[in-house]
Amino acid sequence: MKITVREEEERDYRRSEEIIREAFSYPGRIERGGIGCPSEHWMVHELRKRDGAGIRLVAEADGVPAGYVACSRAQILVGDTDALPVVNIGPIGVLPEYQRKGIGKALFHAVLERAAETGWGAVMFFGRPEYCPQLGFVEAGTYGVSDRFGEISPAFLCRELKEGYLSAARGGRFFDSDIYDEKRHREEIRTFDRQFAAEEANGAREAR
Ligand SMILES: CC(C)(COP(=O)(O)OP(=O)(O)OC[C@H]1O[C@@H](n2cnc3c(N)ncnc32)[C@H](O)[C@@H]1OP(=O)(O)O)[C@@H](O)C(=O)NCCC(=O)NCCS
Repeated sequence: MKITVREEEERDYRRSEEIIREAFSYPGRIERGGIGCPSEHWMVHELRKRDGAGIRLVAEADGVPAGYVACSRAQILVGDTDALPVVNIGPIGVLPEYQRKGIGKALFHAVLERAAETGWGAVMFFGRPEYCPQLGFVEAGTYGVSDRFGEISPAFLCRELKEGYLSAARGGRFFDSDIYDEKRHREEIRTFDRQFAAEEANGAREAR
């Protein structure tokens, strides 16, 4: 299987959202989100309008779009005044039938490359701790950074892109875009998801 990663184009928009919706519809995820539907496809949609970091990538497997990632702008607030910009990775997802074949890794590598090329100093995000060692991510707590509530956790990850960039972040708190707050946007997300659910239902009906 040949994996290629490229910039998202307008013709990909809907498919990218579908990929992310499917990737995040795994058992238990929707229940945990607590709003009755996945929310990450709405985040993808919203990131094109605001808070994006200019990194939106599609992964193809033998020419078929199978994975997607978008990034957003975030910052670490240190003390009362200093804000250190960082790039936040996510949502990132791979269609269930294509998972564990290296597509996720290819997307992460491409994000790190693009972010470094465009001058970002570090990436910081909430993700899967399984990725830590292979991709050079470490817990953000290693650099003395906590989330906006002052907490650290194994899922709160980061990687410097410029050596020493995060040394100025010690004692800081991480603030990401409010698009990741699914409870706050629950009504918008539900309305957005209804189109996908209706299309899915139509597709299932036609297939019968
Ligand atoms: C997480 C996700 C993007 C990974 O994509 P993927 O294409 O399956 O990942 P890869 O095949 O590139 O795997 C990369 C490495 O991550 C680790 N990994 C990936 N999925 C894992 C899992 N479910 N459990 C444990 N380790 C896992 C493995 O160590 C793997 O390395 P290996 O090839 O040496 O085993 C994909 O599983 C997905 O879309 N999940 C649902 C959405 C999600 O949770 N996204 C948030 C991610 S922060």
